[in-house]
Amino acid sequence: MSNLLDWANLPFGYMRTDYNVRCIWKDGAWGKLEVTSSEYLMMHMAATCLHYGQEAFEGLKAFRGRDGKIRIFRIRANARRMKTSGEYIKMKSPDEELFVEAIRLAVKLNERFVPPCESGASLYIRPLLIGTGAQVGVSPAQEYTFLVFVTPVGPYFKSGFKPVDVIITRDTDRAAPLGTGHIKVGGNYAASLPALDVAHHQGYATCLYLDAREKKYIDECGPANFFGIKGNSYVTPDSHSVLPSITNDSLMTLAADMGMKVERRHIPVEELADFSEAGQCGTAAVISPLGKVFDPGTNKVYEFPDSRKAGNVCEVLYNKLRAIQFGDAPDTYGWVDIID
Ligand code: PLP
Ligand code: COI
Repeated sequence: MSNLLDWANLPFGYMRTDYNVRCIWKDGAWGKLEVTSSEYLMMHMAATCLHYGQEAFEGLKAFRGRDGKIRIFRIRANARRMKTSGEYIKMKSPDEELFVEAIRLAVKLNERFVPPCESGASLYIRPLLIGTGAQVGVSPAQEYTFLVFVTPVGPYFKSGFKPVDVIITRDTDRAAPLGTGHIKVGGNYAASLPALDVAHHQGYATCLYLDAREKKYIDECGPANFFGIKGNSYVTPDSHSVLPSITNDSLMTLAADMGMKVERRHIPVEELADFSEAGQCGTAAVISPLGKVFDPGTNKVYEFPDSRKAGNVCEVLYNKLRAIQFGDAPDTYGWVDIID
């Protein structure tokens, strides 16, 4: 098993695994979970996911511990978020029980793809919910498909746990103030592509979004949440257009338990100058510290004192989170599901 792949050098990308699991909602109920090896979906050309964006997804990870056990991180929090996303765009959404069963099954069936502990890599789990019923008028589908695939992944940024430079986005928005930024639906990611493209072309790892209404406050950082460290405070934006990150929620819990003050509030962009450390956090990114932030609106560059290596607080939080995920620290918050 351990020679199956070059585990230590995995990219963050799709790789075929053995199975995925699927379930269809029609005639008022979810059918049976089905297991398949096909990577393709057959659907009606007028499916609502294709035309009207009726789609939501999730992202979570499974880790192999030193004890050989496989741990899935915060599966129930992801189940709740998928339900919130699905219901907002009027889809039938799996309840927690079905979500958990599908994920556990997908991981178990692809056990040989869960990277070994010492590689630091993990198995990325991608649940997807789409409207597969046909409509031409703008209205919810009468049929939905829920599927879960998995793929082994390495770090989201090639640099791993090293600071990355980011550019502030001022001329496009990923989400409207009262739009869909708070849920995990595909349209947000399509809307984020122009800003990411600009960032990549200018040599930045990702972009930092500001609030869409006034462009005064920090929203989030590519497909990850933003946090800054100021004195003994962990500061993170309070905004309706930010996705409530489960990683950020976990870090807030850990920070509070370390005796830090957790502040969820508007963060004026100029406050970047007052943070001793800042980072982006998410399932894919874990914690990725920020090095420099360039604001093309003012030509200002904010540079963190530790712009070449992770700062102390980022490092402590990262190590605490990883220890729970890999089973090196006790799961005192009930965040982990073990697959036997
Ligand atoms: N923000 C956005 C827009 C994301 O896509 C993600 C990834 O899921 C996050 C934040 C981080 O959320 P989580 O920690 O739940 O993965
Ligand atoms: C995640 O962190 O799980 C995400 O969904 C980010 C992603 C869109 C790559």
